[in-house]
Amino acid sequence: MKRVLIILFILIIAVTFFFIFYKKDLSYEDKMKNLGYSSSEVSLILDNVSSQNYDLVLELGYDKSLINILNSNDYKENNFENYIKYYMKNKKANIGDIISIVNSNYDLMNYPASGLLANLVKEKYYINANVARYLDYGNSHDVNSKKIISIVNSKADLEFYSESYDSNLNDNNLILVNKFYHLKEDYVPNDLVTLSGQYNKGANNKMRKDAALAFMEMVDAAKLDNIILYNMSAYRDYNYQVNLYNKYIQRDGKEAADKYSARPGYSEHQSGLCSDLNNISDSFDGTDEAIWLKNNAYKYGFILRFPKDKEDITGYKYEPWHYRYVGKDAAKIIYDDDITLEEYYAYYIENTSN
Ligand code: DAL
Ligand code: ZN
Repeated sequence: MKRVLIILFILIIAVTFFFIFYKKDLSYEDKMKNLGYSSSEVSLILDNVSSQNYDLVLELGYDKSLINILNSNDYKENNFENYIKYYMKNKKANIGDIISIVNSNYDLMNYPASGLLANLVKEKYYINANVARYLDYGNSHDVNSKKIISIVNSKADLEFYSESYDSNLNDNNLILVNKFYHLKEDYVPNDLVTLSGQYNKGANNKMRKDAALAFMEMVDAAKLDNIILYNMSAYRDYNYQVNLYNKYIQRDGKEAADKYSARPGYSEHQSGLCSDLNNISDSFDGTDEAIWLKNNAYKYGFILRFPKDKEDITGYKYEPWHYRYVGKDAAKIIYDDDITLEEYYAYYIENTSN
């Protein structure tokens, strides 16, 4: 008799539990229907939202945007709560933008949702740490998100020379020397070698060893295509640049000189990793030699350092004669993606979240 009672008791408990949970499920479904969701919309919700978030759906009330979120190709169930939270703060925003922004990074939910932000996060060279500056720049300039990212990653949203950092010598072939990164006055590369014979026609004929070997390899390869290349100016020490820059200032004034000449310490020539080839003049552009270099230099680890139409990024006018050694891997990425060393450096070297 006692045993029967115990079994009966357990059975009653089990049935009660079953009904509580079963009813709860039913009631969510009913409650959603009562809010105005159709049967197919309720199924969509139950299939794509985890049960712990059903209350959130009820809190939201009937909202077609919820259905749009669930129907998005980029919808991720794990992000549901964040979509809703972000949507609540940005009810007028485009649902696709909300999804892209939340999928990209939860920290971005502190920024208002916008088409600009959604486009930025989809860019290959997007760096999260730069987002506030992207938005500032994008909201005050009429340029696309790719351009915003190029400008900001290269610091060109700031005034040139307005901030100054030591170039990181540990970066080796990827040392960045530009209007924000400089070499110390006494910096002299410790592995300079001399370019001679057919490889050189200039007085500044030294390059760092790896760069010089790659340079000779490139010159030899060009020769097979009947293209004759040679160095005119490679490594230049700090004092040489002092004289050069001062000479240009006297001739053209500081503002004009800054567009084509680096200030002492800020010239890549002091790194021993670059060469001005053949003819240091605008007339070099369009020659067979310049075209060969543009199309082939990357195969030997060299990049066109100051390309046409990138003056706003590099801070320098187009220099078809100035090639910089960065090594073959980096050169290929820079060539393929049509970016500058500034952009490469920001994304692949400096960006720690990458
Ligand atoms: N002409 C380049 C920018 C230099 O002076 O280093
Ligand atoms: Zn140069």
